[in-house]
Amino acid sequence: MDMPLHHSSDDVGNANVAAPTRSNGQFIIDLDQVSKHYPGAAQPALHPTTLSIGKGEFFSILGPSGSGKTTTLRLIAGFERPDSGIVNLANADVTQLPPNKRDVNTVFQNYALFPHLNIFDNVAYPLRMKRVRGADIKARVEEALSLVEMSDFRSRLPHQLSGGQRQRIALARALVGRPQVLLLDEPLGALDLRLRQQMQHVLTSLQEQLGITFVYVTHDQGEALSMSDRVAIMNHGRIEQIGSPEDLYYSPKSEFVAAFVGKSNLLDVQIEEGRGFREARIAGHAIELPQARKTGRAKLVVRCESLAVTRSPDHDAAVSLPATVENVLFLGTGLEIILDCQGVTLTALVTAQRERQFATGDTVYCSFKSSDVVVLHD
Ligand SMILES: Nc1ncnc2c1ncn2[C@@H]1O[C@H](COP(=O)(O)OP(=O)(O)OP(=O)(O)O)[C@@H](O)[C@H]1O
Ligand SMILES: [Mg+2]
Repeated sequence: MDMPLHHSSDDVGNANVAAPTRSNGQFIIDLDQVSKHYPGAAQPALHPTTLSIGKGEFFSILGPSGSGKTTTLRLIAGFERPDSGIVNLANADVTQLPPNKRDVNTVFQNYALFPHLNIFDNVAYPLRMKRVRGADIKARVEEALSLVEMSDFRSRLPHQLSGGQRQRIALARALVGRPQVLLLDEPLGALDLRLRQQMQHVLTSLQEQLGITFVYVTHDQGEALSMSDRVAIMNHGRIEQIGSPEDLYYSPKSEFVAAFVGKSNLLDVQIEEGRGFREARIAGHAIELPQARKTGRAKLVVRCESLAVTRSPDHDAAVSLPATVENVLFLGTGLEIILDCQGVTLTALVTAQRERQFATGDTVYCSFKSSDVVVLHD
């Protein structure tokens, strides 16, 4: 089914600020109406944005390429000055302070180690710049190397390490100065899947051990959902929605968020007054929607894994639509089944089971519960 793409105005602009989780309400980063328009650019990279991040939070910024993630991070770090607004760190206005005067460290999208310095000296570098005493340097470098489990590599040169190991050294170098805030810009982007997963565990356990606030930029939704306390979804220089991974997944506030996080069916419907509740029709079948706030045009969001596919109708479901299987993709853990429900295309994601096979052309029933439907009113 063709769905015109448009963006809901819900929650666009100044982000709603849900209470941060681990912080007891204390904010360490506070952006107040901060914006950035690069000279010569057609659109602002960041529209005026208000955002608070709690002390000790693992906060992720997720969004497509060019949505303003790196710009937001650079504004927090001090590598960019905002056109408007105030950047507060630990309750102090740092808007005019350079990066080295902010208690923040950054692991960049393209991290770089000094090729001619061995691993120990690479990690020691920020401490030497701060003129920390030699004996303290040794202790702190050893501590940082042990945190990322790289102590045995202290004498090697960067080119003698794998990509993932170099990444861990970049992380140790960012941690050695014990910043209050660590900004990470797609730090695992260059790694293969297995190493990425290993590093995700290293990062979350480090963050819990050290209690440092992490602001983590990624365009990988799986990574953002699995690691974070809260996630901000960015699109075209705006935060579309902020929430816990569960909030974003189960209660998307816009079509963009619904489509960007997880895999969903989006259905154009007309909501009408029913006998008991408001209701909508999908392929001619009525479904009661107690969650609908008003009548009129709306989009229904139904997660692909909320659809059940069976050989006979499910009389307990809110709606059980007769359908024809159009295509089946075997994904290992699951099956993606494309269904034609009397002209409406639905995608279902079901657990793969040896004894339960579906083939193109099969006649089946596609069912879901009313509570699995999110209503986005026009
Ligand atoms: N120095 C600059 N001068 C002009 N425009 C810039 C500059 N840096 C970024 N931009 C533009 O600002 C917008 C936001 O860029 P930004 O780097 O913040 O995106 P991003 O979300 O980090 O993207 P990616 O996922 O590709 O890293 C883009 O349209 C980009 O082209
Ligand atoms: Mg970027």
